[in-house]
Amino acid sequence: MVSNQNRHKIIITIDGKASTGKSTLAKKLAREFNYLHIDTGAMYRAVTFYALKHHKTKKNQVNMQGLIKNLHKVHIEFKFDRFRQRCFLNGIDVENQIRTMDVSDSVSYISTFSQVRSYLVGLQRLMGKNKAVVMEGRDIGTVVFPEAECKFFLIADPKIRAKRRFEELIQIGKKIDYNQVLSNVMDRDEIDQSRKHSPLKKAKDAIEIDVSNLNAQEVYFKVKHMIHQQLTS
Ligand code: DC
Repeated sequence: MVSNQNRHKIIITIDGKASTGKSTLAKKLAREFNYLHIDTGAMYRAVTFYALKHHKTKKNQVNMQGLIKNLHKVHIEFKFDRFRQRCFLNGIDVENQIRTMDVSDSVSYISTFSQVRSYLVGLQRLMGKNKAVVMEGRDIGTVVFPEAECKFFLIADPKIRAKRRFEELIQIGKKIDYNQVLSNVMDRDEIDQSRKHSPLKKAKDAIEIDVSNLNAQEVYFKVKHMIHQQLTS
């Protein structure tokens, strides 16, 4: 770990498409710099989980008006143990529940609503107000912290991303079909990139990295090197 004493604290943003390895990278960087890791995708997932639980219509759709009216009842926080960050919704650990396919299938749609976005962006800015944070998502370098000092944008071939996601889900014991994962990844890309409010796009000053042919460790070393260069220049 690099000593943080005497070094000014910065904000590191990692944006990119679904399953590009943002979380793995953010976690490693947070550990390296002794920074806080904030996974904003988990926050959108937590709102979606809440919506599916409390605001589902008889036709199995989400009543968005009901959700928007009750957003103030959605309290999200992260608790950190030695190994990982866990997401809590209204005091309850929902880290596993927010990773189900049910949530994955609805999260991009719910994330298109400006009211949902501004509620979560407000929380994200609070979480990063003291800097010393690695924040990952879709709009962190463009909207949440456009003034961040170090910005990265990860891209990769959709089939490679789906294969990685599929393997992760199998590893945590989920019974899932690869094609279902691939179509979810592609659908989410499409919704995330084409939505009206804060669409997924590279910030002008972000460094784009194609991770298709790099493993997690290679991506980490590359990005860590770039940050060190930036901090010492
Ligand atoms: O990072 P993830 O795949 O867990 O994110 C889930 C969804 O949340 C993603 O498809 C779009 C949405 N999201 C967003 O709109 N803005 C963010 N900053 C983070 C995630």
